[in-house]
Amino acid sequence: MSKDSNVMGKILFDEKAIRDRAAEIGKQITEDFAGEDVVALCTLKGSLPWTADVIKNIDLDLVLDFIKASSYGSSTVSSGVVKISIEPKENLYNKNVIIIEDIIDTGNTLNYLVKKLEERHPKCIKICTMLNKEERRVADIHGDYVGFEVDDLFVVGYGLDYDEKYRNLPYISYLEAEDIEKL
Ligand code: IMP
Ligand code: MG
Repeated sequence: MSKDSNVMGKILFDEKAIRDRAAEIGKQITEDFAGEDVVALCTLKGSLPWTADVIKNIDLDLVLDFIKASSYGSSTVSSGVVKISIEPKENLYNKNVIIIEDIIDTGNTLNYLVKKLEERHPKCIKICTMLNKEERRVADIHGDYVGFEVDDLFVVGYGLDYDEKYRNLPYISYLEAEDIEKL
């Protein structure tokens, strides 16, 4: 199936809107951490395009690192059972850590991740998420920098996948139940 065959025409946010919002957030982070350095922690794989957009707009001493948390369960709902499969290489002690996330849904994954990172005693941990699905929140976690609010839809594109597909779409779309049945 071509990457666009069933998600064409259902664009929630196009590339320009996403990049413009990333620029605003990057500038805000630059102001908030003026005079300090930051570690941008990209959560693999979904946050890669958003991370690239945001960090280009942060005018501070910045180190980029990666973390990968995998949550078990079906493709469309996270189970809250999380495993860290790629650990950050940087020393996070006394650092301003900005986790760059694709989407906060139930918040279970991020909640676990923040707890694990706190064990490294960073100076602070902030969360920068491209999308926020507030309606679905279970864990007590919130984004400090939020790109866009989204309704309870299964979104794909701009890094976000369904079963590893659609990450390469240059916009954010969504799948409906009937799309998923056809896959
Ligand atoms: P949470 O633990 O429920 O907050 O889910 C976190 C992860 O689930 C995200 O980082 C995404 O990888 C994935 N996820 C949640 N909602 C969606 C969605 O609508 N589309 C694609 N992936 C999603
Ligand atoms: Mg995913």
